[in-house]
Amino acid sequence: AGAAGIALAFAGCGLAGPGTVSTIGEVDFARPLAIPPLAESWVDADGARVFELEARAGSTEFTDGVPSETWGFNGPYLGPTLVAERGERVRVEVANALDEPTSVHWHGMHLPAKMDGGPHQAVEPGGEWMPEWEIDQPAATLWYHPHPHGETERHVERGLAGMFLLHDDAERALGLPSEYGVDDVPVIVQDASFDDDGRRGRRPGGFAGALGDDLLVNGTLGPFLDVTSEVTRLRLLNGSTARIYDFAFDDRRTVQLIGTDGGLLEAPVDTEHVRLSPGERAEVLVRMEPGERAVLQSRMSADALGAPEQLAAPNGGTDAFDVLELRAGSALGAADDAPDRLVDVPDFDPADVAVERDFSLGGHEIDDREMDMGRIDETVTVGTLERWTVRNEQQLPHSFHVHDVQFRIESIGGQPPPAELAGWKDTIYLAPRTDFRLLMRFDDHADPETPYMYHCHLLQHEDQGMMGQFVVVEPGGRATMTERNDHDH
Ligand code: C2O
Ligand code: CU
Repeated sequence: AGAAGIALAFAGCGLAGPGTVSTIGEVDFARPLAIPPLAESWVDADGARVFELEARAGSTEFTDGVPSETWGFNGPYLGPTLVAERGERVRVEVANALDEPTSVHWHGMHLPAKMDGGPHQAVEPGGEWMPEWEIDQPAATLWYHPHPHGETERHVERGLAGMFLLHDDAERALGLPSEYGVDDVPVIVQDASFDDDGRRGRRPGGFAGALGDDLLVNGTLGPFLDVTSEVTRLRLLNGSTARIYDFAFDDRRTVQLIGTDGGLLEAPVDTEHVRLSPGERAEVLVRMEPGERAVLQSRMSADALGAPEQLAAPNGGTDAFDVLELRAGSALGAADDAPDRLVDVPDFDPADVAVERDFSLGGHEIDDREMDMGRIDETVTVGTLERWTVRNEQQLPHSFHVHDVQFRIESIGGQPPPAELAGWKDTIYLAPRTDFRLLMRFDDHADPETPYMYHCHLLQHEDQGMMGQFVVVEPGGRATMTERNDHDH
């Protein structure tokens, strides 16, 4: 009830007013954290692991007895967690039971463009789509969500999203917490607004997009998690459409950051806080004492945005949220901290960079152009190391996500990235007026006629056109899709 009260108190002031939202101390943590079910799968005669996902409309009681209209995969809200192994072939049988087109994009996945689930792979109402690919990347916390052209924000906000976890031998050898939903826990954080009856409502929009005044974690309002082990692995996903978080515990305890978007880090990073913009993920290990309680919170600040004070306002102010209460049992299973070395994360050699591209984000545009489904913006040659220099030209929040690859941050404003940003990434928050240099290589899957996307992952911005398209071609190849404006740099 506390959370709903706060929603009412701050309704409508997210952007226009002083913009300070705070639910700290107001959340009663009365509901057990929902754990998205593991997706069922089977192996077909050709050895592919097969999953089924159906996008459908339904209703969800975020507040008991008060149904809200929502969308989900295989259920009324969010979707099951898909799990696959490196080297496995997977096929997902996607069905659309909505009455409008949607798509399912595998965010962070390295795969052929035709399987990517972007705006060119729309699934019509009543239609089906069956992407199949081989998992060819390290263990990681990936996710999936719709990507229909111009409608992504609305589809994700309604509840279409889920996690896609990848495992491999290198990860297993580390003995990290791995019991799903017990000591290895998905934490999908989304902001939402509720009316005074507790019904989820449309959130007011602003420059950054719609911002809600309450948080849902895995679709649970005011959640707690019973902790049964000394060390718990949280897989944090910012599944919000616009809001940026800076997660930390109420007592500022140190956690071990062990993984980012595309996989585990070389070594754990001890930190008190983790900033995630929409679409970014982080894996952290949290150590607890028997009987203890610890509240995961987010306190956004101009500092965390790497920007002057005024930037915090479009994000809903210097906002603060109670996110999730961890409640440790009186006896906890023994568990170790992460080992000092995790996995190899081989560096790209900047001397090998063969192509440089620059991208500037501002307004609704990248490089002064809005997204055009019929235009290929960039043509990339397979196997070539590229440096993409990305810049947010505004004093407003933007981010940058590239499909198909995991990249590495070479520098931020000319400085090497901090340890927490030194691993595999597919989405980054772009502090204003700062050059982010990214190194990436598109190793295979050349297809001159099917583009991948790059875009701001504040989903309203994506929908408004802050997105571009690239194709990957064989050496000497060229895009064969309608090309009106190719501008290789
Ligand atoms: Cu998470 Cu192009 O998207
Ligand atoms: Cu943006």
